[in-house]
Amino acid sequence: MTTRTQVAIIGAGPSGLLLGQLLHKAGISNVILERQSGDYVLGRIRAGILEQVTVDLLKEAGVGERVGREGIVHHSIELVFAGARHPIDVHGLTGGKVVTAYGQTELTRDLMEARQAQGLTTVYEAANVSLHGFDGDQPVVRYQKDGATHELQCDFIAGCDGFHGVSRATVKDSISEFERVYPFGWLGVLADVPPVSPHAIVYGNSDRGFSLCSMRSLSRSRYYVQCPLDDKVEDWSDQRFWDELRRRVDPELADKIVTGPSIEKSIAPLRSFVAEPMRFGRLFLAGDAAHIVPPTGAKGLNLAATDVKYLSGAFIEYYLEHSAAGIDTYSQRCLRRIWKAERFSWWLTSLMHRFPDTAGFGQRIQEAELDYLVNSKAASTSLAENYVGLPL
Ligand code: APR
Ligand code: PHB
Repeated sequence: MTTRTQVAIIGAGPSGLLLGQLLHKAGISNVILERQSGDYVLGRIRAGILEQVTVDLLKEAGVGERVGREGIVHHSIELVFAGARHPIDVHGLTGGKVVTAYGQTELTRDLMEARQAQGLTTVYEAANVSLHGFDGDQPVVRYQKDGATHELQCDFIAGCDGFHGVSRATVKDSISEFERVYPFGWLGVLADVPPVSPHAIVYGNSDRGFSLCSMRSLSRSRYYVQCPLDDKVEDWSDQRFWDELRRRVDPELADKIVTGPSIEKSIAPLRSFVAEPMRFGRLFLAGDAAHIVPPTGAKGLNLAATDVKYLSGAFIEYYLEHSAAGIDTYSQRCLRRIWKAERFSWWLTSLMHRFPDTAGFGQRIQEAELDYLVNSKAASTSLAENYVGLPL
């Protein structure tokens, strides 16, 4: 069966869903093709810190009500090292900017429900998606659904299908890839207990490794500890996790941690990755399809959002103003922002984690940088302005 739309979006994660909403609002037709089921997409436990530009984009897309009501605004973060905790006044150092704690699962749910309420087409469990003709002006996406082969004719294809998607794989011979894989993972736990630090994410660097104290709401906490790459989730009982987390923060905070049964526990590897360019004729990559950051700087979801901001603006300019300027500059505009977020994420990961091969000198340098960071307004301002998101 053959159908037609203006923009074919591959992937119903945050990038694809947000792009679909912004295009619909501008009167541009779009269809999303998603490999998994909607429940599977919602079952993913991912990030939880939104820059203001992301919150503003959700409001622009018409799905900002719940994040405005339930999101937890943070004015500061805290760094724990050498047994002491140091606040970084993000709000004060950036002239009043903040971040908002709001789970990616909830953001995805908001976008999915809005799309469904508007009767927009998302084909879930679309199998064997393939992209064709995007080097010309009549691209086509083919896929299988319920045993039948379908063809979606379009003007543009947005590859929002993540790191393991088909879009970047389709143009792999035309892409330059830049990657760094880190020699450790993050063991993450989700638990329905009140967060130990509800209004400030706590980043820890101890001789036992990195730790992070975060949240999804005032009754649901999200915690992480750095772990060896060859660790398995089954190696970590809840009790072992809580004991290890307590060892990696200062005594006062350790005493305040409320423990409870994990409702999700997983180990994720860390990598920095960028694919250049992000445009191939009428195919555009956005979000994790084009780049990955280590989660330390909480940039993954926010970079996806700014890619979508640029891409939706480019399509709107094309259709409503008959200008290709946004399309022609999309890749370089995104990459300029992406590489600065990659640098910040790499820098904060390098600063806060223990690396297996770090000898005495490297350890002293890490300690000196932490000391400088919390005692220099200039250094803290640099951290703060990157954390809230650099200007567009
Ligand atoms: N065909 C159709 N859909 C696909 C295909 C395919 N061949 N391959 C992957 N997908 C779908 C996935 O099932 C997923 O739902 O594309 C979607 C991609 O979503 P994400 O991986 O979440 O990527 P993105 O939407 O860019 O969001 C980035 O998610 O992974 C986090 O840290 C990341 O917070 C960031 C955010
Ligand atoms: C999270 O809540 O999952 C989270 C918070 C801050 C980070 C990374 C992850 O830097």
